[in-house]
Amino acid sequence: VFERPAPINHPIHELLTRRWSTRAFTDQPVTDEDVARLFEAARWAPSSGNGQPWSFIVAQRKQTEEFEKLASVLNSGNSWARAGGVLILAVATLDRSPGNANRHAWFDVGLASENIALQACAMRLGFHMMAGFNAEKASEVLEIPERYAPVAMMVVGHPAHPDTLEESLRDKDMKPRHRKPFSEFVFTGKWGVSEPLV
Ligand SMILES: Cc1cc2nc3c(=O)[nH]c(=O)nc-3n(C[C@H](O)[C@H](O)[C@H](O)COP(=O)(O)O)c2cc1C
Repeated sequence: VFERPAPINHPIHELLTRRWSTRAFTDQPVTDEDVARLFEAARWAPSSGNGQPWSFIVAQRKQTEEFEKLASVLNSGNSWARAGGVLILAVATLDRSPGNANRHAWFDVGLASENIALQACAMRLGFHMMAGFNAEKASEVLEIPERYAPVAMMVVGHPAHPDTLEESLRDKDMKPRHRKPFSEFVFTGKWGVSEPLV
């Protein structure tokens, strides 16, 4: 299996260094039990007031019609995701009750989605989140009521070597991984002021 571990500066959990967003998948289907385990992980995410403002529309490849519905709302730049075994659309419940907006809904959907990402990683499945899809079309095709907003799509599958991808995608999946240093995002006292943590 192709690994792309994060080049870390401080030791962190192995699951976090091993997770990355793969684009190459094999034909091997994801089992029903594996899919259930992914959503069990989502279920146990924390959320503001335990509101659990997430829903997921899921389709396995064998559910041809449902899979195609989800695939049809992907941007063309994310066509590689059609090779995955499972497509998922994450949806936020925008209010806690009528007229009472939930300011944290998208945040909580992100937490549940990252739980899926990490559980997939723990199960040696490939995973990739995608903002590149048509949210309006998704609401239409999937008949999502107005109270709910499509947030992001995800693909899960058994990972393949990036060698199996066309050249431009292969390069993306094999280049070194980068992150901002602490000095650009960890502040002390006031905005923009960073001191060494150690
Ligand atoms: C909300 C969200 C939307 C994303 N949308 C896309 C996308 O549409 N297409 C894509 O190829 N990657 C997408 N990504 C993947 C990011 O590019 C990727 O997470 C980032 O480059 C860091 O790489 P890593 O996940 O391998 O650590 C998205 C990630 C997130 C969290």
